[in-house]
Amino acid sequence: MLSQRVAGFGATVFAEFSKLAQEHRAVNLGQGFPDFDGPAEIKQAAIDAITSGVNQYAISQGALALRTAIAKHARRFYDQSIEPLSQVVVTSGATETIFDAVQAFTDPGDEVVLFEPFYDSYLASVQLAGAVPRYVELRAPDASHPTWWFDERELEQAFTPRTRLVIVNTPHNPTGKIFTRDELELIGRLAARANAVIVSDEVYEHLVFAPARHVRPATMPSLADRTLTISSGGKSFSFTGWKIGWGLGPVALVGAVQKAHQWVTFATASPFQAAIARALELPDSYFSGFVAEYAARRDFLGAALTKAGLEVLPVEGSYFLMARTGSLRKAGEDDVQFCKRLIVEKGVAAIPPSVFYSAAHAPRAHGLARFAFCKTDATLQEAARRLTGGSVLG
Ligand SMILES: Cc1ncc(COP(=O)(O)O)c(C=O)c1O
Repeated sequence: MLSQRVAGFGATVFAEFSKLAQEHRAVNLGQGFPDFDGPAEIKQAAIDAITSGVNQYAISQGALALRTAIAKHARRFYDQSIEPLSQVVVTSGATETIFDAVQAFTDPGDEVVLFEPFYDSYLASVQLAGAVPRYVELRAPDASHPTWWFDERELEQAFTPRTRLVIVNTPHNPTGKIFTRDELELIGRLAARANAVIVSDEVYEHLVFAPARHVRPATMPSLADRTLTISSGGKSFSFTGWKIGWGLGPVALVGAVQKAHQWVTFATASPFQAAIARALELPDSYFSGFVAEYAARRDFLGAALTKAGLEVLPVEGSYFLMARTGSLRKAGEDDVQFCKRLIVEKGVAAIPPSVFYSAAHAPRAHGLARFAFCKTDATLQEAARRLTGGSVLG
């Protein structure tokens, strides 16, 4: 009964791990959503929108108040000049903008460059469009690379005459990498040579830990004309369930995404658009407090994992942390088996990073685990107690 497009999609590992975590009453550091709500005044803004009658379809491209707030936010944080009517499109989460963009910029057989590991919806979107992924491996830090890195030749070779799109994610899920200006320049040069569009997924734009600095590719003159920037209210304001995402950039790119969006979801939840418009106008102190809290969470969980015997890799941004499972890993154990054992023996759930790799490259994730630190102090403390108390795993 199934179409070939969906036949290859299994149930996600996230669902399996959430179930296993529940069964074992594990502290869930698996899925990437906060176990707390965003600011009370923003919740109130959504409630007010509902009670004041903002309950019918929004304009397909996004409520004007939200598009205006997105443009102002781009000016405030990146000194970007964005025209709300023609250069912003609002979608059901960043996930939909990604899907729409792949639909808008590829025909079947066209190629999309993906850095691997990748946020899992990229590959699904590429496959659903009938396009072909070309992978570039992000390699773990080593003696000569302080952060995750890629081989320039491998990137060059991933571009072919059929390349239409390259997806960059900075700060990056699951590694916490932030792409440097030089790396982005190179991506831009290759994209220009292939006349490809760059999609820059920046949903973690406000989770950047000093001394790392976020470079928005669209602010670089050599990339600006071909870059669609994507972000979301879910991560920056801790309302992932509202699914308000957006794309911004050159009129032609936004217009193309809008063409797909009008037939994918048409429009997205009106009251939540109103509330996220308010959120984007929160004062600078909100954003600095937000990242400071997350830096503390990263440090706390990192210390607990180190004490438990894992090797924590550097995290420059996002709310994920990758760790080498090192000596805690049993001989021959893959990342899925390790993470299952962590749930059963320690009562702590992490995500096996092979879900962020193509099937052929899944073994690259063996020996790694991804932990989410978008959790309350109480949750993180309980995880730390379980990880460091009692017998050490393995
Ligand atoms: C890199 C990345 N992009 C996009 C998303 C999804 O964003 P949204 O919830 O707005 O669809 C996520 C969520 O985990 C993510 O990690």
